[in-house]
Amino acid sequence: MDELKIVASASYIPPTVITNDQLAQIMDTSDEWITTRTGIKERRVSLKANTSSLCVQVAKELLKKSKIKAEEVDLIIVATMSPDSNTPATAAIVQGEIEAKNAFAFDISAACSGFVYGLKVAANFLKDEQIKNVLLIGGEVLSKLVDWTDRKTAVLFGDGAAGVLLTSADTQQSYLLSSDIKTFGASHAKLTAGCDQVSPSFPPTGPQRPTAFGMDGREVYNFATRQVPKSLVRACEQAGLTPDQVDLFLLHQANARIIQSVAKKMKLPLEKFPTNIAKYGNTSATSIPLLLAELSEQGVLERGQIIAFSGFGGGLTLGTVIIKY
Ligand code: ACO
Repeated sequence: MDELKIVASASYIPPTVITNDQLAQIMDTSDEWITTRTGIKERRVSLKANTSSLCVQVAKELLKKSKIKAEEVDLIIVATMSPDSNTPATAAIVQGEIEAKNAFAFDISAACSGFVYGLKVAANFLKDEQIKNVLLIGGEVLSKLVDWTDRKTAVLFGDGAAGVLLTSADTQQSYLLSSDIKTFGASHAKLTAGCDQVSPSFPPTGPQRPTAFGMDGREVYNFATRQVPKSLVRACEQAGLTPDQVDLFLLHQANARIIQSVAKKMKLPLEKFPTNIAKYGNTSATSIPLLLAELSEQGVLERGQIIAFSGFGGGLTLGTVIIKY
């Protein structure tokens, strides 16, 4: 068991709402198709702010909520698959913008599992006595990577950022109870985005542009519905819990049908699997902390609850972390 306390959660969602009907005006799709296949009704698109700007808003809100000064932050991790640039890391930009001058900062690239991978990484860093406060933020501007002529992927994704301030638990009540983190790299080509092209000639003849989303939707769907229940069961066993002892399952919000299928396979009531995908679509590394922040705002979360976080996506990556909140 690792000490790990979630002190605060926060989110920042760009204001521009794009509904299914708006998408139906620019591509051959419909609100009916998107809603029944995915559960998504609308998503946000960031028209001005890049990923780091969204994350800075979240970081500032987290500091405010947890009453911690920027200088007291020791580590900043941003989980993202849509960073501002290859270098610097988005986390480094956040560190500079909030003037967290004592923090070191880096990004994690694990697509939609990024927040869960980040929890595991942060828990390990928090064993170090020199590290007390960690900002872990999932931030995405996936609209940069969307091909708006490809209806198979364009309807799925949304922009936003959300995160948590973590500290080594001082109350002896908050713990990371177990974790099950896996990568299925042999299936890496099933979900791709932002692939930089190697120039076939020198000097290069035209601009080299990263590619848009490419996804074998059915394969990723099958991967998620098969592997997430197994991962949840392994993590529960490791924590010495039966699945029904877990109060809430916060799953990556990729598709409402995936969440329904996981709940059914686990023979658990759907009420234990809250969703907000209708409002935001698939926001990749942002989706789990965004759901957490919303549930916290709504007063749904209580200290002492057992919460399982489970992410899956590009890599293919998979991860479950169970905490005592
Ligand atoms: N509107 C209308 N029709 C569409 C659309 C659309 N937006 N997209 C596809 N279709 C059509 C297809 O062309 C196909 O038509 P055809 O039968 O004439 O060929 C038909 O609908 C069925 O297409 P499928 O791809 O088989 O639809 P499916 O039921 O599998 O749903 C979906 C597709 C929603 C993408 C689903 O496979 C899914 O959710 N997959 C998982 C994606 C995921 O979880 N990603 C998570 C990771 S994301 C990350 O890591 C960033």
